[in-house]
Amino acid sequence: APRKLWGGRFSGKTDPLMEKFNASISFDSRFYKADVVGSQAYAKALARKHILTDAEAAKIHEGLDQVLAEWESSSFVLKDGDEDIHTANERRLGEIIGTAISGKLHTGRSRNDQVATDFRIWVRDESQKLITVLKELIGTAVVRAESEIDIIMPGYTHLQRAQPIRWSHLVLSHAWKWHADCLRLEQLLKRMNQLPLGSGALAGNPFGIDRDFLAKELGFDSIIPNSLYGVSDRDFVAEFLFWASLTMVHISCLAEDLIVYSTGEFGFIQVADAYSTGSSLMPQKKNPDSLELLRGKSGRVFGDMTGFMMTYKGTPSTYNKDLQEDKEPVFDAYDTVLGSLQITTGVLATLRVNRDKMLASLSIDMLATDLAEYLVRKGVPFRDTHHIAGEAVRIAEERRCTMADLKLEDFKKLHSAFEEDVVKVWNYEQSIENRNTPGGTSRATVLAQIESLKAFLQ
Ligand code: ARG
Repeated sequence: APRKLWGGRFSGKTDPLMEKFNASISFDSRFYKADVVGSQAYAKALARKHILTDAEAAKIHEGLDQVLAEWESSSFVLKDGDEDIHTANERRLGEIIGTAISGKLHTGRSRNDQVATDFRIWVRDESQKLITVLKELIGTAVVRAESEIDIIMPGYTHLQRAQPIRWSHLVLSHAWKWHADCLRLEQLLKRMNQLPLGSGALAGNPFGIDRDFLAKELGFDSIIPNSLYGVSDRDFVAEFLFWASLTMVHISCLAEDLIVYSTGEFGFIQVADAYSTGSSLMPQKKNPDSLELLRGKSGRVFGDMTGFMMTYKGTPSTYNKDLQEDKEPVFDAYDTVLGSLQITTGVLATLRVNRDKMLASLSIDMLATDLAEYLVRKGVPFRDTHHIAGEAVRIAEERRCTMADLKLEDFKKLHSAFEEDVVKVWNYEQSIENRNTPGGTSRATVLAQIESLKAFLQ
């Protein structure tokens, strides 16, 4: 069996089951690149302190280039004893350049500061892909919102018909959440961009390694100022998992809207065949499985977050092996969010809107607020107008007609300020256009949102 990195003081063998239990290579191999570039930078820093000659550092650099190339071409062969990515890469480097040189690389370094560094590099770099797909999703929403700005529909609170809105306004309400998700991710990536390397196992580095140089080489903004903190801090993991959970909440809420709207009873939208499936029993069925999976997978990402928090909460200071459990939740959350964002983009880009059904679902009672506002514009206090409009709703309900069928004299009985022009209230488009204060559902204020999201995507 190959020599263990830490085997010197051991005389007994590791139980084979423990060997498997302890190993993280099956998942942390995803760090292969971060691990290579981290080691290359560390070799340079060692050479600057004359712990490596320039020639040795160059050999290490080249050897690690080959290690990286093997990973990228899937020709890296794992061997027994490759406990984790750090062990595997160092073992392979030794085979390529000889252990007389490779054996110097780990001077002053521990897997504790190494893994903390690899992990931060991985989250930082791989998250760029999340930002890209989030922006694609926002772009898809913006395109729809712009081309379908004329479509009007009932807006809901409590899932009860409330006021008429533009369909675009609803689509954009989801886009703004993704916009916030984008900003939040960028903010947390900035916050976590601090370097642990040079913390050693816990107490610090005894060779005066230039940590600012390492930070610069590896694209970090600064160094973590305390080595105990440096090896143990996983707050960035917690933040990332919360970010992923919240992003999934946003996807889940859109999915819920669309599932409801795609029912026969609503019939507002139709999910494309590409994102639907059928029933093995009922020939007529077309189910919005994509949306249900999006809603369902949010639970799984919450599980990643809460599972990690349970692991994280009870650890004593510095590194403990519990922390090896920090990676799988992040990988799972990452893969789930990435896939979900891509599927959401596909669903949103391809669904069909039934504008006639949306229009037909509007009803005159949804203009009761507008009736109250009509009187406000004639100088009546809103508290009174609210009550008066409520009475109009009740009268129409009693007579089994709509408020639009009531006569001027009916309105006059409710308040003397009513005039001929009250008939102008019964206009959905006008109700929508009245809400032209920034943030409202009018055409101009929806177009303004589109412009500002477009500017963000530039
Ligand atoms: N595979 C380990 C992890 O993921 C690397 C750090 C190991 N450190 C140690 N002291 N055993 O956390």
